Amino acid sequence: MSGFGDYLVSSRDLEEYRAMLALDDADLAGSVLDCPGGGASFTASACALGADARAVDPVYAVSADELEARLGAELERGRAWAAGRADAYVWDLHGDPDALTRRRAASAARFVAHRRAEPGRYVAASLPHLPFAAASADLVVSSHLLFTYADRLDRAAHLAALLEMARVARREVRVYPLVDVAGRPLDELLARLRRDLAARGLATEVREVAHEFQRGARHLLAVDATGPAAEVGAPT
Ligand SMILES: C[S@@+](CC[C@H](N)C(=O)[O-])C[C@H]1O[C@@H](n2cnc3c(N)ncnc32)[C@H](O)[C@@H]1O
Repeated sequence: MSGFGDYLVSSRDLEEYRAMLALDDADLAGSVLDCPGGGASFTASACALGADARAVDPVYAVSADELEARLGAELERGRAWAAGRADAYVWDLHGDPDALTRRRAASAARFVAHRRAEPGRYVAASLPHLPFAAASADLVVSSHLLFTYADRLDRAAHLAALLEMARVARREVRVYPLVDVAGRPLDELLARLRRDLAARGLATEVREVAHEFQRGARHLLAVDATGPAAEVGAPT
């Protein structure tokens, strides 16, 4: 489940991460893993605030130069997507598709510079297999992969990804949004995943967030990673 073209490689910034993932200063004082990091400047900005932040994404397998070039194309792809569906978004935060693209371009530039300066913080890997020890990050955050791409990631892929992020997290996993790329709610998938996780001893919570860009995307899923997780098996 990876590869350029299959998934938009987007470049959100710290302010957007804070809002959509309900991150406060305490969350950014410890270690945090951004999965998937894409072209987001979250890791760069969180490190600047003193966090021990890392990001993981399959696209980090390509060189810094190639990724920089690809991000330019992805910005245009993202602009065209949002402009073609402007009614599906709430524009209070970003203004309009051009302003959104300028903001994402600034974020992408910050990401590119930080990846060049601290390449060790950007790890090429794909869910559901992360090359990190158990409980090696206080918090794992995941935006715009699970649920967003429910058209190509089935329930088993979601469960395996959530269990893997819960393995790596010491405290909590937060996932946003809980709607698909077209803004459709995924209540049945969400409910079944929460049952699957509960069966493995992992408590979950759906929290409302003070953020809405994609219409209807007003909630995150939190997985309490302090509980025991059993072997990954087929969802029942
Ligand atoms: C829409 S972007 C989100 C990036 C970032 N979180 C943001 O919000 O700006 C989705 C990312 O998921 C990555 N991706 C796709 N398959 C993945 C997998 N199996 N494991 C981890 N990341 C994956 C893609 O490469 C892409 O960068």
